[in-house]
Amino acid sequence: MSVFVLAHLSDPHIPPLAEPRPAELIGKRITGYLNWKLRRGAHHRRDILDRLAADLLAQAPDHVAVTGDLANLSLPVEFDDGRAFLARLGDGKRVSVIPGNHDAYVRATNGTYLGAWREYLAGDAAQTAPFPYLRRRGPVALIGLSSAVPTLPFFASGRLGSDQLDRLAIVLARLQEERCFRVILIHHAPAGPRSWLKRLEDAPGFRDTVALYGADLVLSGHDHIAAVNEIAGFERPIPVVQVPSASAAPGDPRGGAAYNLYRIEGAPGFWSCEMESRGFSPDGKIVSLRKKKLM
Ligand SMILES: [Fe+2]
Repeated sequence: MSVFVLAHLSDPHIPPLAEPRPAELIGKRITGYLNWKLRRGAHHRRDILDRLAADLLAQAPDHVAVTGDLANLSLPVEFDDGRAFLARLGDGKRVSVIPGNHDAYVRATNGTYLGAWREYLAGDAAQTAPFPYLRRRGPVALIGLSSAVPTLPFFASGRLGSDQLDRLAIVLARLQEERCFRVILIHHAPAGPRSWLKRLEDAPGFRDTVALYGADLVLSGHDHIAAVNEIAGFERPIPVVQVPSASAAPGDPRGGAAYNLYRIEGAPGFWSCEMESRGFSPDGKIVSLRKKKLM
């Protein structure tokens, strides 16, 4: 029985921060820039991200899912950097991406990722709206969502919107009959505790949709923590998995950089999935951190 290995990393916040031109320091970028200079910048390191990516590639996964926040301030150059980072992981057949709130940081450049990262978020078939996209790889159906919307300074909340939720229901209803292994990618985790300022506004609507039609795994980022929560599914609870930032320095209070591997095997309707987390130990080595059977 062959095993399909899906890798999952998130929130690389690709360092170092590009130096914005004065004209680019508009609106929310001003507070974001100061926040990076005073606090965040010390937590995200390029050498850490590079070593983590190299370790991930050495595991030779069948596919890589990147759940958003490649950028920091959504400066135009950050979308080029994001594309270069994705290209290092592989081509669009092997890598899928969704946007995070930092990729939709300001209205001026919102949606730039759609062009810059097209290869990595285009659905298999032509579709009228970019999200949800559906990409089939081996036994896996990847359903990519966008919860990334520009917000006021100090807010990092997300929203899918009723139209996207309606389209998600249609996609999940179709997949229900196939019984393939359904993986939903969404930057803002639809389960687990977080501050009101960072919440997914329509998490109840998402959970209702998934409870009705089912899915097998939900992958998220956003909080920069390692977590496994559950939401109700059609046949059984669905794990909602988060990983720390892929560039977080070892010893970061929210967790040093890490990524997950999901080993998926079985047959339609009878899937098993084991998760392995690999990342930085406090002494700066990349090791296997834990294994957990998800189903
Ligand atoms: Fe983030």
